[in-house]
Amino acid sequence: MVNNKPASKQQTIETEFLNLDYSFQGLTSAQLKQYAAQKLPKNFNQLKQQLAKGEYKNKTEGRTVSHMLNRSIHNVVKAGNGKNRFTEIVRTLRSGKWLGATGKPIQNVVNIGVGGSDLGPMMGSFALKEFADDNTLHHLNTHFVSSMDGGQLYAVLPIIDPETTLFIIASKSFGTIDTLANVNTVKEWIKPKLTEKQWLANHVIGVSANNQAMTDFGIPPAQQISFADSVGGRFSLWSAIGLPIALTVGSNQFSKMLDGAKAMDDHFVQTDDPTQNIPTALALLGLYNREERQINNVAILPYDGRLRYLPSYMQQLDMESNGKQATHDNQPLKTPTGPIIWGGFGPNGQHAFFQHLHQGWDKFTADFIAVLHRQAPGFTTEVQNALREQQRLAVSNCLAHRKLMWEGFNSPQDPRNEYIGNHPTNLLYVDELTPHSFGALIAAYEHKVFTQGVIWGINSFDQPGVEKGKHCAVDILKTIDGHETQSFDPSTDAIIKRM
Ligand code: F6P
Repeated sequence: MVNNKPASKQQTIETEFLNLDYSFQGLTSAQLKQYAAQKLPKNFNQLKQQLAKGEYKNKTEGRTVSHMLNRSIHNVVKAGNGKNRFTEIVRTLRSGKWLGATGKPIQNVVNIGVGGSDLGPMMGSFALKEFADDNTLHHLNTHFVSSMDGGQLYAVLPIIDPETTLFIIASKSFGTIDTLANVNTVKEWIKPKLTEKQWLANHVIGVSANNQAMTDFGIPPAQQISFADSVGGRFSLWSAIGLPIALTVGSNQFSKMLDGAKAMDDHFVQTDDPTQNIPTALALLGLYNREERQINNVAILPYDGRLRYLPSYMQQLDMESNGKQATHDNQPLKTPTGPIIWGGFGPNGQHAFFQHLHQGWDKFTADFIAVLHRQAPGFTTEVQNALREQQRLAVSNCLAHRKLMWEGFNSPQDPRNEYIGNHPTNLLYVDELTPHSFGALIAAYEHKVFTQGVIWGINSFDQPGVEKGKHCAVDILKTIDGHETQSFDPSTDAIIKRM
C-alpha cells in the first residue's frame, strides 16, 4: 500500500534563470535546513569562494580547479595564448571565409574528442542550435566523433569531403588513444585528395591544454587554441573545448551561455540559506536519498528533446567526479559516495523503461527537467502553434509521471494497476530554454557535484579509477597485434586467439 500525500505547499526555489521544485522529495524546507546544518562543513562558504576564484585545490593532481574562471568569453580568449583566436576562428568559419587547401570553403566541421572533449560540446551544440546568430552567412554542419572503434567515423566519412572539411582535434591532454586513433584514420582518409601538409595547414584546429603536443603534431600556431590545465575535462565546455558550440551559435550566443553559468555561480556562492540555494539543495536532497533512503541511482529525465544529451553528460560530470572510495587524504571511505547516474529523454522513456520505474522492484530517484514555453522561431504561425502545443503535451506528461512516481496509486482489487510510488524526484524547470538558462542549468549541476564531494570529503576533480583499464588494454592490444605473447586468463586468451 502506498499513500504519499502531495506536499501541503509547493517546495520551490525560484531564480530568474532556473527553478527547482522539490515538493515530491518528502522533506519540508525546515527539514532540509536542519539536514544542511548537520551535513555542510563549517568552512563551506570559504570552499565556495576558493572554487569561484580558481583557488580550490585538486590535491592529488597538484593543481587548482579553475573552470569557474571561464565564465566570460574574455577569459576564454585570454587562455588562447593571449591571442584572439577563439572568436576569430569562429567568425572566419561561420562566415564561410575559411578556405580549404584547394580553395573551397569549409562546410563540415568534425569534432574529434572523447569524454569532456565530446559530451559537453555535443550536448550544447545540439541544445542551442536554434539560437544561432542570424548573421550566419554560411551553413556549417557539425559532427562529433568520439568512439575508439571508429564506428562514428565510419558513418561520417562517407558524407563529407576532405577538401571542405575541418577537423577539431579536441583533447585536453592531446594524448588520449581514442582521439588519436580516430585522427590516424582520418590521416589515411584524406590522402587521395590532400597531402598531410595541406591538411594540417588548412583543415585542422587543435584545442588542448598541451601546447607542445599540438606543435609536435604539426598544427600551425594560429590553429592552436589552448586552455588552462586546471580546467578539468568534464568541466571544460566553457573553455575552448566549447568551440563547436560557438561554431553552431556564434560567439555572442556562446557568451550568453557563459553568462548563464556566471549567474548560477553568483547564486551558488552568494546564497547562504541552503533552502534557497539550488545547487546546495540539489546536493543535500541527493545526499539524503543516498544515505537515508539508500537509493543508489538517479535518473536524469529531460522533457525537452533539445536536452537529450544531458543524461550522458551528467554521467561523466557526476560519476567521474564522485564515484570514489577514498577521501582527499587517501583514507578508505565507509559510506557510499556518488550514485549511479542514468536516464534518457523522458517522453521516449515513457515507452521504454518507465514501466519498470512505476511498477518494478527497484528504488530510484529522478530529476525531471522541463521547459515550460517554446518560441519555435523560423516557422509559420501554424507550425509554431503546433510546436507549442507539443511542448505543453510534453510538460503535462512530465508533471503526470512525476506525480505518480511520488504519490503512487492504490488498487487493492487489481494489483496490475497498483503503482508503488514513494520515489522522490526533483523538477528542474525553466520558462524557456535559452543559452543563458542552459548555462545556468549545467553550472547548477556542477556545483551540486562539488558540494556533495565536499561533504563526502573526496576529491571530485581527479579520476584515478579509469587508468588501470587503459594500461591493461595496452598489454592486451600488444598480444592481439602479435607483438607479445602474454597469457591473461582462459576467457581473454580465447577471444584473443579467435581474433
Ligand atoms: O579517461 C578519462 C578522461 O581523462 C576524462 O576525464 C576526459 O574528459 C577524457 O578522458 C578525455 O581526455 P582528453 O580531453 O585529455 O582527451
